[in-house]
Amino acid sequence: MVIGSGIAGLSFALKAARTRRVLIITKKEQAESNTNYAQGGIASVISPDDSFGLHIKDTLDCGAGLCHTDAVEQIVKNGPALIDELIDLGVRFSREHGRLDLGREGGHVRKRIVHAKDLTGKEIERALLHQISVNKNIRVFEHHSAIDLITEHNITKSKRIANRHCYGAYVYDEKSKKILTVISGVTVLCTGGIGQVYLHTTNPVIATGDGIAMAYRSGCLIGNMEFVQFHPTSLYEAAGDKYSPQSFLISEALRGAGAILKTRSGREFMQKYDKRKSLAPRDIVARAIDNEMKKSGDKYVYLDATGIALKKLKSEFPNIYEKCYSVGINISREFIPVVPAAHYGCGGIVSDLNGKTSIKNLFVLGEAAMTGVHGANRLASNSLLEALVYADKAGMICSNPSIKFRKPNQLKIPDWDSSGTENAEEWVLISQNRTEIKQIMFNYVGIVRSNLRLNRALRRIQLIMNETEVFYKKTKVNRELLELRNMAQISYLIIRSALMRKESRGLHYSTDYPDKNRKYLHDTIISNKTV
Ligand code: FAD
Ligand code: SIN
Repeated sequence: MVIGSGIAGLSFALKAARTRRVLIITKKEQAESNTNYAQGGIASVISPDDSFGLHIKDTLDCGAGLCHTDAVEQIVKNGPALIDELIDLGVRFSREHGRLDLGREGGHVRKRIVHAKDLTGKEIERALLHQISVNKNIRVFEHHSAIDLITEHNITKSKRIANRHCYGAYVYDEKSKKILTVISGVTVLCTGGIGQVYLHTTNPVIATGDGIAMAYRSGCLIGNMEFVQFHPTSLYEAAGDKYSPQSFLISEALRGAGAILKTRSGREFMQKYDKRKSLAPRDIVARAIDNEMKKSGDKYVYLDATGIALKKLKSEFPNIYEKCYSVGINISREFIPVVPAAHYGCGGIVSDLNGKTSIKNLFVLGEAAMTGVHGANRLASNSLLEALVYADKAGMICSNPSIKFRKPNQLKIPDWDSSGTENAEEWVLISQNRTEIKQIMFNYVGIVRSNLRLNRALRRIQLIMNETEVFYKKTKVNRELLELRNMAQISYLIIRSALMRKESRGLHYSTDYPDKNRKYLHDTIISNKTV
């Protein structure tokens, strides 16, 4: 069983289906995923003036000392062959004079971003979903949400974490409102990111960290949750007291093509923060914008793309051009108001070089994983690459017919027990707590942190967690409640990890440890020993 239908889930499924039958379950319509909104592209060494060594160095520099070198080498070296494979599967990347057109993004010393205009993710989803639809070994269940993993602790009630296996998951079918017990030789979590725990995020509403929360509840090791990447440039849309559940991204590729960050009074400012200016790595740019906004009291800064030819804007950035036009901004003549928004979780379920987790027969791929590739800060466009490479590695293991996965034939797996629960009547509890979590996380656990803010956030989140748990135990399952429970647990993990890291590093910046005197050169690992 594959849980999730973004790039990680779909590319894994295609590989596993060479020898196995695969069920993909996915929370909403099959294309709805972070992948579907990816703009910039996939980083890969394609250009003759580039090298694996340079891509590896850029990734390590960006990761601020925490990247696992073996994991970085693995994604970089396997990139070009997997880009070719995507092309063979029907992905139409942008080309110039017949060759792949390569974009540039922050932190990269070379042009190496393979893309499909500024709609790369949509094109990848389209092609992979087409391949899935014609594959007889793969079935897709839309509108099915995984609730919890099935391990020994559901079957024998054993609290022992060592040597635990995963046998599948309980899955909520939103249409029939039934809960299925799905038993599987291998379960693969491809549930994506956590952006929705923040008030402002580029992530779609599915990104509530479900896979990470489920794995944590089952006793899996979870790592580096404090490293939440804020993308420097999401479109600022004045909306009064309302907030949009998903902020529109203005791709870093636009800065790669020459767009420049400016204050509201029209002055360039990035030269004060980094010699790479608007193309410095994201942690630096997002913090610089945050600082400029705090100093001026402005609600946004500007991105000036007026130096880029109209023809290029329209042909290479049609998505951004049209979206801005639809809200009254002609980007060839007017500056774009932008603000940082939560974008990517570098932490997640701890995985080895093949996507294996600390629970047997449970794999994790893509954004839900902590592979060690991104360290304390992800390099732009390395995420789609990481998902592809790890899906390939795990796919090779799972499609190997000589490997037998333990099935719980002798064990009696109980069905979901909903006795004593009632339909939710107090919907306001769910929506209010969801909004509160998002506000707490954005205000206290954002780009700049302090112990005071983190502790305040922890107290409030623990209260919401406890309240939600009580409500959950007496209420019939529904997707909104499942998401709320997961969002509270993800927020708790982010705050706990942030409090453990007593230094500023990469995406975790604390005013209590402002100096660059970094001491904790290790990952922040948490596990739930109480299950
Ligand atoms: P996703 O693509 O997010 O897929 C997760 C899937 O899991 C979804 O199908 C979801 O419905 C499903 N799911 C979640 N919970 C459950 C559940 N409980 N039960 C069942 N199904 C569930 N990265 C780059 O490298 N390059 C880029 O240019 C780039 N641009 C980006 C632009 C935007 C706006 C965003 C938001 C991200 C961007 N990223 C980019 C990051 C990248 O897109 C993601 O990290 C990557 O797509 C994650 O892929 P995934 O397969 O792990 O997860
Ligand atoms: C972007 O296009 O700016 C997003 C790229 C990424 O998140 O890697």
